[in-house]
Amino acid sequence: MSQQMSRRNALAAGLSVGTVLGAGAIGAIPAKAAQLAPRKERDGGNPFLEGQFAPVPFEVTEFDLAVTGTIPRDLTGRLLRNGPNVLGLEDPLAHHWLVGDGMVHGVQLRDGKAEWYRSRWVRAKGTAEKLGEPVRGVPAETDFPSNINVIGFRGKTLALQEGTARPQELTDELYTVGPCDFNGTWAGTMSAHTKLDPGTGELHSVSYDESTDYVQYVVISAAGEVRSTRKIPMGGTILMHDFALTENYVVLYDQPIVFDLDAMKHGQKIPWVWDTGRPSRVGYFPRAGGAVTWITVPPSYISHTLNSYDDGGNIVVDYVEFPAPFSADRLSTSAPPALVRWTIDRARRSVRRTQLDDRPQEFPRVPDARVSRKHRYGYTAATADFLRAYGHGSTPDSAFGNGLVKHDLATGRSQFHRFPKHASASEAVFVPRSGARAEDDGYVLSYVHNPERNASDLVILAAQDFTGKPIAQIHLPSRIPLGLHGSWIAGT
Ligand SMILES: [Fe+2]
Repeated sequence: MSQQMSRRNALAAGLSVGTVLGAGAIGAIPAKAAQLAPRKERDGGNPFLEGQFAPVPFEVTEFDLAVTGTIPRDLTGRLLRNGPNVLGLEDPLAHHWLVGDGMVHGVQLRDGKAEWYRSRWVRAKGTAEKLGEPVRGVPAETDFPSNINVIGFRGKTLALQEGTARPQELTDELYTVGPCDFNGTWAGTMSAHTKLDPGTGELHSVSYDESTDYVQYVVISAAGEVRSTRKIPMGGTILMHDFALTENYVVLYDQPIVFDLDAMKHGQKIPWVWDTGRPSRVGYFPRAGGAVTWITVPPSYISHTLNSYDDGGNIVVDYVEFPAPFSADRLSTSAPPALVRWTIDRARRSVRRTQLDDRPQEFPRVPDARVSRKHRYGYTAATADFLRAYGHGSTPDSAFGNGLVKHDLATGRSQFHRFPKHASASEAVFVPRSGARAEDDGYVLSYVHNPERNASDLVILAAQDFTGKPIAQIHLPSRIPLGLHGSWIAGT
C-alpha cells in the first residue's frame, strides 16, 4: 500500500477495523486470479501472510465431506464466515490482516451429512475487476471489499462491511449477485454488526463514513424495506465498529479513535489513530425516537457487543473491551481484551462497569434468539495464535489457550473447551436443537484450524456438554484463514 495513498484509494483497499483481535475440487476461477494471489515465498516475513493468517489462493468446492462423529440431523442450514483474503498484493510488507478482498466460506449441512464446502471471493467492484469479471450492479461511489461479516435476512445472504460499502447479496452457493438495495429503498451502507430483532424481524444498523462527522441509524422492516433512518452527529470522523440494541433502546459507543490518513505517512498500515484529546462517551436513545443521552465514561476501545437488554430502569451492555490506549494498527501496543459489563442507570445517567472475565478473549456471541433480549449464556473465542501474531507472546497463559468459552452470566461461572495447540477457533455460533426449551439447549459451531492437516474442521459441540468431546468434526479440504464473523443460516 503506497505511502502516497489518497483517501479514496485507502477506502478502496478495504480497510476493515473489525477486530483486533487436502485438495478439493477447484471452483471455476480464472487462472488470472491464481496469478494474482499472494505467494508465501515473496511475502517478506509479514506475519499476516503466514501460517493460519495467510490468504488462500483459490476458491474451493468440495462435496460430501468426511466426518468424525455424527452430525445432528436437526442441523439443516449453512455455517458461513467472512474475512479478508487479499488478491493481487502489491506490497506484502505493507499488508495488514484487516485489509483486503472478502472471502466467504460455507458448509451446507442436511440430513446428518455435510453436503458441501465452498469458498468464494465476494465480488465487490475492485475484487471483480481483479478477477477479470464484470462488476455486479451499482457499487457505492467508494467501493470497499465486503470482508467483515455475512448474515441471513429474509432469505437473502448478505456480505457486510462497515464504512462506505453497500451490502453484497450472495446466492445460497455464495456467488455474488451484487449490491443489495432492499427493494430500492436503500442506496446507503450498513454496519458489519447489524442486529436482527428476534421479536419484530427488523434489521437494525448503525453505520459510519470516514468522510462524515455523523453516524447513521437505519431500520429495515420485516418486509425488507427501509422503515426509518436517522443521522446522529458525532463531532468527528470516528470509528464505531459495533453498537448495542435492546428491546427499547439503541446504544452508541463514542470512542477516541478517529480517521487520519496522515498516520499512514508515519508508518501506519491503517489510518485510525487514538485521539487522547477526545472524550469517551456512551449514548443511548429510544428506538421509538427521542434525544440521545450521552454519558462520559473512562476511555477504552469497545470492539464487539456480546449483547444488551433492558432491565427495569437500567440498560445492561456486555461487550469486549481493550484498555486505553488502543491501536488497531499495532495491537501489540495495546493490552489484551476482556469481557466487561456496563449497567447504565437511565434515571441517574450513570454507568457502572463490572469486569466479567479478565482473560483474553474476543468474538462474543449470544444465541440469535437472545439478541436485544436478556441472555444468560454467551460464547467467546480465546485464540492464542491470534494474540501471539499481534505480539502478545505470553498470552493467553497455559490455563487459557486456544479454545472457546461458555459464560453463564447468571452464576458468573464459565466453561472452557480446549483445542490442541495451534488449533485456533473462529467465532462460535449457537444453533438451537429442534424443540429446544432451554437457552443453551443446542449446538455450538466453529471453524477450527486443524494443525495436523493444515486445514480446517467445522467442529460441533453440545452446548450443554461444552467441555465434552465434539459431537462432530467435519473435515474441510483446505484451510480457512483466521478471519472475522459469520452466521448460521437455517434451511436451504
Ligand atoms: Fe467485528
